[in-house]
Amino acid sequence: MAITDTLRQLREEVESTLAGLQDTAGLEALRVKVLGKKGTLTELLKGMGKLAPEERPKVGAEINEVRQWLTGKMDEKQAELRAAEREAAMKAEAIDVTEPRKLPKVGSTHPITLVMDELIECFSGMGFEVMEGPEVELDHYNFELMNLPKNHPARDAQDTFYMDDNIVLRTHTSPMQARAMLSRKPPIRIICPGRVYRADELDATHSPVFHQMEGLVVDENMSMSDLRGTLEAFAKKLYGNDVSTRFRPSFFPFTEPSAEVDLTCTACHGKGCRICKDTGWVEVLGCGMVNPKVLEMCGIDSTKYSGFAFGIGLERIAMKRFGITDLRMLYEGDARLLGQLR
Ligand code: PHE
Repeated sequence: MAITDTLRQLREEVESTLAGLQDTAGLEALRVKVLGKKGTLTELLKGMGKLAPEERPKVGAEINEVRQWLTGKMDEKQAELRAAEREAAMKAEAIDVTEPRKLPKVGSTHPITLVMDELIECFSGMGFEVMEGPEVELDHYNFELMNLPKNHPARDAQDTFYMDDNIVLRTHTSPMQARAMLSRKPPIRIICPGRVYRADELDATHSPVFHQMEGLVVDENMSMSDLRGTLEAFAKKLYGNDVSTRFRPSFFPFTEPSAEVDLTCTACHGKGCRICKDTGWVEVLGCGMVNPKVLEMCGIDSTKYSGFAFGIGLERIAMKRFGITDLRMLYEGDARLLGQLR
């Protein structure tokens, strides 16, 4: 085939390939195929040596013309493709600022923490100071100093988990009474919120892990009426003026006399319902005057000082506050439920 025809064919081929090109990568491949070291046009140039000398200038000029034309066309196409690619990239990265954003899931304060915070605020307002202590406690503080010597029958009601003979998971926050009296001088006015443990099966009203808040006041001339007044103020501050307290005689080795305290059921206002088991009252705490024997064991002169103590069950308060009848709801961690208890 004459070179002129070959060149025309090449032009046509390139023109149709260019028309169908989608991206700059394809264009680069075409450029190599035609103008590269082993490209069609380069090969044609190399073949010029075989031509008769008089033909060479004419053919050379022809080839050069085609090369210029091809280069121009390819540059044109390149600019066109680059612009299209930039446009597509911008579209792909575009952010729709009008689209509503996905809100992050925000948790809520756990009902027990919520109740704990409320009680702390309430008692802080009455001049109590927060004191915290260990959950893994010495038998000495948890039992002995609370007037529960080894083999005392009242220990049965507080069976717990033993790390060894002398170290237990505390069964109540009462060991903090001993820790406070041994480390401070009267007047003492503290509350001790925290987790406590008992070897109980989990059911609607029992859990092997639960929460209490201890209160202790030691001062001169403390009497049962100070205890009543304090707890009455606490009940009214937390639940309003139409809530009353009811003291029932009870027994704790570390208080004498001892009482259990009920609050008016806030679900039925004392009329009787499921939550208060038709009594109109909900039991929330144990309390009493600190046993003089405990004062003495903890280095406090019981002829000069007296005191009162109370231990509030935080689960009880939370159940009452939120109208829950099954304790387990507080521990299952179901976000659908917990989010509602605010
Ligand atoms: N520690 C007792 C209990 O867990 C409650 C209590 C505390 C009673 C302080 C009297 C005084 O049952």
